[in-house]
Amino acid sequence: MISPSLLSADFTNLEKEFKIMNEEKVDFVHLDIMDGNYVPNISYGPGIVKSLRPLTDIPFDTHLMIERPENYIEDFKKAGSDIITIHPSTTKHLDRTLSLIKSKGMKAGLALNPADSLEILDYTIENLDLVLVMSVNPGFGGQKFIPSALKKISEVKKIIEERDLNTLIEVDGGVKLENAKEVLEAGADILVAGSAIFERNKTRENIRDFKELL
Ligand code: DX5
Ligand code: ZN
Repeated sequence: MISPSLLSADFTNLEKEFKIMNEEKVDFVHLDIMDGNYVPNISYGPGIVKSLRPLTDIPFDTHLMIERPENYIEDFKKAGSDIITIHPSTTKHLDRTLSLIKSKGMKAGLALNPADSLEILDYTIENLDLVLVMSVNPGFGGQKFIPSALKKISEVKKIIEERDLNTLIEVDGGVKLENAKEVLEAGADILVAGSAIFERNKTRENIRDFKELL
């Protein structure tokens, strides 16, 4: 499955970008929410997400890179988010925040940064719909894929299979047509791609190329 990251889209013409994503039937739209605190960059918030909601029926895959995400779950629900993924160190009570996301009828994801170990999954995986393996340090689009993510993807896959779960694995950061195959082979279900999809004003062609590969 493919989840284009809007961060690299043409923000002066989002209507056009959404028209293409609708016509090319992408699986999700990946929305990167950054607060300038947990990550150095600031992107956009629930207000923008809400204004995008009428442009598509495609599920909104919302990646929160913000401190205290528990304070904004309701806002993103109201804005139309379908999946909310959080980073473990941003919330004091991870289990409570994951439950909160699910209690609002949304799917819950947990993101693992490049230096994060898998231990956190021991007591969370049964409550997760998705594990997001970060293949760059969060904060910016257009960074280079960190190769150790491949090993991590296959280790997460192993945990999911051992426990007989159907948790999805999403991979985010530096995913390009050139490395997508090995990312999928390692066990990824959902590829996030920002610059590789929206760059060079060739959104439609890039989506088609990714879909062919999938
Ligand atoms: C990085 C974000 C990514 C980013 C991916 O913090 O989580 O979703 O937009 O962009 P590319 O595909 O360009 O690495
Ligand atoms: Zn992201």
